[in-house]
Amino acid sequence: MFLVALSAPPQTRADPGERAFQRCSGCHSLRPGDADAIAPSLHGVIGRRAGAVEGFAYSDAMRAAGRRRLVWDAATLERFLVDPEGVVPGTSMPNQGGPPVERAALIDWLRRR
Ligand code: HEC
Repeated sequence: MFLVALSAPPQTRADPGERAFQRCSGCHSLRPGDADAIAPSLHGVIGRRAGAVEGFAYSDAMRAAGRRRLVWDAATLERFLVDPEGVVPGTSMPNQGGPPVERAALIDWLRRR
């Protein structure tokens, strides 16, 4: 985390979505198909079925959400960030709320990743 902070100081990042992603990047990468981090890659997450990164050790809860066809879009991701348990009861992702403006910018930014 310390090295990440050094190499990418928040002040130099123009895009508020990219800045907000720093709250996610400790666990999630954006490398396509990355299943080796603490959390699944968020590359192309908008429009993706829940629990779809091959080889990632999802919780049973997230796998079940995928089976009931939960798809990550602006609405479902917004709700998941505010209340992970409310959207995927039993998920292993902790609450990531953040201010509403920041969440909106983040979701918009993720759409392009
Ligand atoms: C402390 C680690 C951690 C942080 C920080 C974190 N997450 Fe997660 N996230 C996880 C874990 C672990 C999972 C897998 C949950 C499961 O299997 O139930 C997950 C799952 C997800 C999923 C579902 C992915 C899929 O393939 O279905 C999304 C979307 C997501 N996180 C978005 C975010 C966003 C956006 C942020 C930043 C605002 C964030 N997460 C921050 C740990 C984290």
